[in-house]
Amino acid sequence: KKQLSDGLPLSGKKVLITAGPTYEAIDPVRFIGNHSSGLMGFELAKTAASLGAEVYLVTGPTYLSVTHDNIHVVNVVSADDMYHSAQMYYETSDIVICAAAVADYRPKTVAEQKIKKSEENFTIELVKNKDILKTFGDHKKNQFLVGFALETENEIENAKGKLKRKNLDAIVLNSMRDKGAGFGGVTNKVSFIDTNSNITAFELKTKAEVAVDIFNEIIKRRYA
Ligand code: CTP
Ligand code: CA
Repeated sequence: KKQLSDGLPLSGKKVLITAGPTYEAIDPVRFIGNHSSGLMGFELAKTAASLGAEVYLVTGPTYLSVTHDNIHVVNVVSADDMYHSAQMYYETSDIVICAAAVADYRPKTVAEQKIKKSEENFTIELVKNKDILKTFGDHKKNQFLVGFALETENEIENAKGKLKRKNLDAIVLNSMRDKGAGFGGVTNKVSFIDTNSNITAFELKTKAEVAVDIFNEIIKRRYA
């Protein structure tokens, strides 16, 4: 049976995307989180679906929602949840984009009851979370693997370091220098860096437009 998506650049392809923040529990009512809205990941999911892909969108807590026959949304809370959900789809994916702002650390223990205030100073011990993207890179077969990098200094150098260390095929550098770019907003200014150190710098544009640019770069390198 002929499908509507036949003939689109990503028809028959599976795309896995991580999005949003993660929440790391301190006690039953508190967590450590960040300001990621999830929008970049959701726009990537919509673009991939519009290009014909079957999309798995594993997202941390967000107010965003999407309804599309080819987008399967998997809601998670912590970095550990995100790892376990995302890894179920990794092996069969053709393109994997980690756009989530995963917490690097989580509280070593989660208090069973709401913590009461007492002392003037209070310390929470944190332990490192698993690096989802690096784990994917270490187990890469035929997936085209893309990460994001958020840097405030030595942007290009740090992004290239992550590309290499995590065995990626490309990394999207989020420029924090420009007003309107990065977390929270609807616009973003990114550079796409590949394994040959080719850098494509894009103008400030909406995250929806950035998502199209990112898939153009991926398709050029993998399917053109
Ligand atoms: N990432 C991930 N799992 C983690 C941490 C990060 O999958 N536990 C992914 C992010 O989704 C992003 C990329 O790794 O695609 C880079 O995240 P970033 O925070 O910029 O880099 P880190 O490797 O965590 O290094 P640092 O925060 O020290 O700069
Ligand atoms: Ca980090």
